[in-house]
Amino acid sequence: MNLVLMGPPGAGKGTQAKFIAEKAGIPHISTGDMLREEMASGSELGKRVKEIVNSGKLVDDSLMIEIVKERLSKDDVAGGFILDGFPRTLAQSEKLDELMDSIDKKIEYVLYVDVPEEVIVKRLSSRRVCPKCGKSYNMISNPPSDGDKCDDCGTAIVARADDNPETIRNRYRVYEDSTEPVIEYYRNRNVLFTVDGTLPVEKVNDMVLNMIGGE
Ligand code: AP5
Repeated sequence: MNLVLMGPPGAGKGTQAKFIAEKAGIPHISTGDMLREEMASGSELGKRVKEIVNSGKLVDDSLMIEIVKERLSKDDVAGGFILDGFPRTLAQSEKLDELMDSIDKKIEYVLYVDVPEEVIVKRLSSRRVCPKCGKSYNMISNPPSDGDKCDDCGTAIVARADDNPETIRNRYRVYEDSTEPVIEYYRNRNVLFTVDGTLPVEKVNDMVLNMIGGE
């Protein structure tokens, strides 16, 4: 099963991607996570993208396409994969199609997690992540059990650098301008499934499972 998760920043793409990855036993490929790992490692690539990512703008298409192409050449995607955060522009979606054609595969499902802007701003302002193990929390809907410590590794959880109200709104504008056309692109190809991302996580999990046929 080759699947793409789409939706505005903070819609719950990562939350759903992790759930599906576990259920279906296929890798969750998050371009945002990959970029943040590069930034944390201090690599040349990380230094190059840091300012762009922290401001909520998009990293250039050619670089993102190279990163995804390289990742999709790994053996673990043979049984399927979940792309989270890619494609985000029409150029990326067209390149993904070319890439899939070249390896004789296709994107079977595009799940669009639909959440309005006001909910997004509130949700992302209360998101915290563990800088050590990457586990994600929400201080309103899913707080850690011990104040501000990660349940899994005990590290103090922090806000992502791009989760401040101004950058969240920038990210949403970028999403409207560059990524909404990609949703239409997939709608026209009849592979788009829309899920109401304002519902509680477990309810969204159920709907997502239903859409992909309980795979
Ligand atoms: P990326 O990391 O992809 O950020 P994003 O798209 O803004 O998405 P988020 O990770 O913020 O949110 P999400 O939808 O995964 O929601 P989550 O599950 O965490 O990209 C970051 C940056 O990298 C971009 O801005 C760009 O600069 C760059 N980049 C990445 N890919 C790129 C590309 N292809 N091209 C160019 N640049 C690229 O949930 C959010 C919060 O809500 C959490 O606290 C969670 O607990 C909570 N939550 C989740 N679901 C629910 C629910 N149903 N009810 C209540 N709370 C919920």
